[in-house]
Amino acid sequence: MDHTVNKFKSYEIREYQILDSTNLHAKRLLDDGLQDNVVIVANSQTAGRGRGNRVWVSDEGNLFFTIVIDAKKINPPEIASYIAAISVSNAIKNLGPTPVVKWPNDVLIEEKKVCGILVESYKKALVIGIGVNVNSCPEYLEGNRKACALKSFVSDIDTEKFLQMILSGFDYEVEAYGKNGFTPLRQKIIENLYRFNEDVELDYLGEKISGRIIDISPCGDIVIETEEGNKEYRTGEIFDL
Ligand code: BTN
Repeated sequence: MDHTVNKFKSYEIREYQILDSTNLHAKRLLDDGLQDNVVIVANSQTAGRGRGNRVWVSDEGNLFFTIVIDAKKINPPEIASYIAAISVSNAIKNLGPTPVVKWPNDVLIEEKKVCGILVESYKKALVIGIGVNVNSCPEYLEGNRKACALKSFVSDIDTEKFLQMILSGFDYEVEAYGKNGFTPLRQKIIENLYRFNEDVELDYLGEKISGRIIDISPCGDIVIETEEGNKEYRTGEIFDL
C-alpha cells in the first residue's frame, strides 16, 4: 500500500492517504514482522473504531495515528493510555487551550471530547491508537456526550508539528516511566483529571457505581469513594450526574 516514510526522534512515521483503521493496519504489519517504534498515520479512515467497538468518525482534516511500541516498555498496558493522554494534553496546552484527562483515556476541552485513545495488546506490542478532532468533530457522541474540534480554540494548526509535539511528549513519558515508575505520571494525571473530587457515576461492565473520584491508585486504578467505602477500578466509563 502506498505510503511515505519519515523519521522523527526514535520513531519511523508511515503516512497513508487512506486506511481502514490505523490500529488494524498496525496489527497487519505486526503479523508481517513489524518492529516497534513505528507510527502509522492515515489522513482518513474507512473503519475507524473506538473503545467498545464504537465507530470513530474519521474524515480528512483530523489526526488518526497509531503508535506501535514494544509491550515491555509500558507494563502494565493500562499505563499506555495515561502516557498517551498526557502527551496529547500537553501538546494541546502548548497551543493555548486547557484540556483535561477524562479517565481512563479521553481528552476534553471545555467538557467536550477532542481526543480518544484506544490501546490494544497485540503479539509482543502495544498498539496505541489516537484520534484527535483537529478541524471537525461529530455533532453528537453516544451517551449524549459532546465533542469539539481544536480549530474552535486555535487558529492555524500545523497538524504535522502537532503530531510531532505529541510524539515528543510520548517519547519523554515512556522514558520517564521506565526510569521513575508511575509516581510522577500519576501526579500529572491527578492534576489534570476531569471531575477530580467530584461526584460521578462509573459504569463498570454494566454495573453502575455512584461516588466521588478521589484518587488514582499507585497501580493506576481509579479510586471511587462510595457509601460502602473506597473502591478501585481498572476499567469502566465515567458519566456526569
Ligand atoms: C475512543 O475514544 O473510543 C477511542 C478512539 C480511538 C480512535 C483512534 S483514530 C486512530 C486509531 N484507529 C482507530 O481505528 N482507532 C484509533
